[in-house]
This record gives sequence, structure tokens and C-alpha cells, in this order.
Amino acid sequence: MRPFLVAGNWKMNGSRESIARLVNEILQGLEVTANTQVLVCPPYVYLADTARLLKGSTVILGAQDVCAEDNGAYTGEISGAMLQDFDCRYVVVGHSERRSLYAEDDRLVARKFMAAQKASLIPILCVGETLEERERGTTHAVIMRQLKAVSDVAGIAAFGRAAVAYEPVWAIGTGKTATPEQAQEVHELMRGCIRAGDARIADAIRLIYGGSVKAANAAELFRMPDIDGGLVGGASLEAREFLAICKAAA
Ligand code: PGA
Repeated sequence: MRPFLVAGNWKMNGSRESIARLVNEILQGLEVTANTQVLVCPPYVYLADTARLLKGSTVILGAQDVCAEDNGAYTGEISGAMLQDFDCRYVVVGHSERRSLYAEDDRLVARKFMAAQKASLIPILCVGETLEERERGTTHAVIMRQLKAVSDVAGIAAFGRAAVAYEPVWAIGTGKTATPEQAQEVHELMRGCIRAGDARIADAIRLIYGGSVKAANAAELFRMPDIDGGLVGGASLEAREFLAICKAAA
């Protein structure tokens, strides 16, 4: 049985003080079961503080992005080895905000995925269609293209040390969640696509859903057979709400 993964993506929010408060509130209220892993992804500059606060707890630390290069003249970038240095175990790659606002294409996302693994981090590969792509009926093609871009260069075996987040762009930060059926349909497609390459990996990989997940809809999403957790943005900035989502996973 693959453990559920509930990840908080705090994006560019918070202050040193509010992030510390949030981490402490999560630590105080969390009742984890063996079946659920909880991950938080603070902004880079708060990783060190957060790592210190999480020491000795079951909550895992992750980052929101990683540079595709190992080191060198890449002003402003952060490498996988640096994240590893601060006790990160996971890193989000290819978030739709990175793809759309910072022009990250499939090729770059694939390189980031590999850079993460090279530094022994577990990449959470984000995929998802825009509203226009959904309305045109190209959702499946978009998801397959985004997955294939990574498997073509990293190989299907690389998915044995990764998670995939299905995040329909139209559902991110909009309050418009995909229905459990809509999400399940895409998750099933993704698992099938991975199964075509390796059945064992398809059974083990965590496919998590993101896009306006909140306490009120988490349980019905998490009940679907191919949804193995959530990537939570806005709702993870409030300890009570995030804790309720973690509870829904258990
Ligand atoms: P949201 O963001 O939960 O605020 O929609 C999800 C994400 O971007 O990962």
C-alpha cells in the first residue's frame, strides 16, 4: 500500500515569523497515521528555519523549485545539492506557475526532474491542462505530452523515485476544484501511461491532486482509487485547514 502524500506548497507567502508560527501550529496539531506523509514546501529563504523546527518530527521538508544545473554562474538559482544540504527530501518541478510565468517548457522541467534525482531528492512533477485545453478536448494529450517529456529523457524507471501531481491550471487558486471524477479520470490515465512502461512502478507511484484542495473537498477527492494525496496551496497556509486535509487523508 502506497502511503498518502499531503504536501503544502506555500508559494511566495509568509514572513519569517508567520512561517515559524505555521510550522509550530502544524506540528502541534498533527496526528499522523503510518499511512500518511506530510510535506511542507516553504520559500527557499525559510528552509533553514523550517528544517530546524521540523527536526525530530515526522513532517518532511521540500522545496518549490530547483535549478537544472549542478552549480556555477546561474545567478539567483538554487541547486539540488543545496536543497539536500538543508534536509529537503522532495522538490516540486514544473508547477504551472513556473511553466506559465517563468516560461519553463517541458524540456527544462525534465532537466529539473533529473537534477533533483541526481541530488537524491524526490521530484514532484506537476502536470495539468489549461481551461482552454480542456475545453478543446485536449486534456489527455496535454497530460501525456508532459509525462512523456520526462520519461523520454529520464526513463520510466526514474518514476520509481518520484511523485506526480495533477494540477489542472483552471483549478489552481481559483476555488474551482476538479470534481473527484474529473481528477480520477486523469489520474487513471497517468497510472495507465506509467503502467505501459512498468507495472510495478505504476502501482507504487503516488499520484496526487492539486487545485483548490480544502478541508471541505479533500475527503471525496482522496477516496478516489488513483488519488494518493494532495498538493495544497492556499489552504496549506492555515494550520487548521491544512491539518483537516491531512486528517482526511488518514
Ligand atoms: P491551490 O494551489 O491549492 O491554492 O489551488 C495548488 C498549487 O498550486 O499547488
